[in-house]
Amino acid sequence: MIGRLLGRLALVGAGCVGYGFWEARNFVVRRRSVAILPAGAAPIRLLHVSDIHLMARQHYKLDFVRALAGLEPDLVVTTGDNWCEEQALAPLLRAWGRLRDVPGVFVFGSNDYEAPTFRPPMAYLLRSTEGREGRKRPLQVEQLRAGYRERGWVDVDETRTLITVRGVTFEFRGTDDAHLGRDDYSLVAGPPSPQADVSIGVTHAPYLRVLDAMAADGVDLILAGHTHGGQVCVPYYGALVTNCDLDPIRAKGLSTHTADGRTSHLHVSAGMGSSPFATYRFACPPEVTVLTLTAADANGWSQRTRIDCTSAFGPLGVWRSLVARVVRDDEAAGSNPVTPTSGRPL
Ligand SMILES: [Fe+2]
Repeated sequence: MIGRLLGRLALVGAGCVGYGFWEARNFVVRRRSVAILPAGAAPIRLLHVSDIHLMARQHYKLDFVRALAGLEPDLVVTTGDNWCEEQALAPLLRAWGRLRDVPGVFVFGSNDYEAPTFRPPMAYLLRSTEGREGRKRPLQVEQLRAGYRERGWVDVDETRTLITVRGVTFEFRGTDDAHLGRDDYSLVAGPPSPQADVSIGVTHAPYLRVLDAMAADGVDLILAGHTHGGQVCVPYYGALVTNCDLDPIRAKGLSTHTADGRTSHLHVSAGMGSSPFATYRFACPPEVTVLTLTAADANGWSQRTRIDCTSAFGPLGVWRSLVARVVRDDEAAGSNPVTPTSGRPL
């Protein structure tokens, strides 16, 4: 009896393991809308891509990137962790194809600077990679930067830029990777440009210090990646970890973030990939997102909702954060509050 039960459990476990490797190769396109454009503006499609973690031999990823042009976006934003090796650059640029001629901005993540090292798939749940700069082989990131800039995409690591699309002027501000501590928000701090209709913050790792600073400065939308959506999630429950101090309930998708009484939309991409040594995802398919930006209502604030998170999440939110606290063994004290500091999934 016990032997038969153990046998069935082993079968289910093996099935789950196999399914995770399959899921990591099956990409989805998520579609969401955010009302942040001036009244009367026509919708604008923003393609948010993150965490490709490309190796040259990963043709299944290249095929998906090549197909993204068919989404016909008006803007492209990539939030880092593009590659794992220099040999991936040429195929990656070819796969982007005509999207490189679409207005776009990018920031880099930790894996754009350093090649990954071996980690077992489940290590993502057990140990953060924060602060491990210098222990890995450096990548020639300037080659990647030059390739992305070559046809007009703008590097917003620690800079701001204005881009006008279909009559709407966007101001993008970005930070370098906060996971490696390379961020210096003071270089882009301040209120949105008076020339901008819409202000968007871009960063790789959604650490609260970056989100707080951007929200307090009044950006309309913050885009980030890095979390891989939790990568190994619990079905019908969600992420257990974010590999940073963001609460797991906002590990992917649209939510909000409030600081100093101001609230920004937040979109965290679950990303397309993972470390080549752990091409495994469970209940968290690899993705890109088409964010359709639409006109705000007459009050200019659209669907953003200010939330008292302690009461809004109730015991479930507290429990989820407690779980996340247990499974990460090296988080900084106070970096992953028991109750989320702000925001809720929309
Ligand atoms: Fe990543």
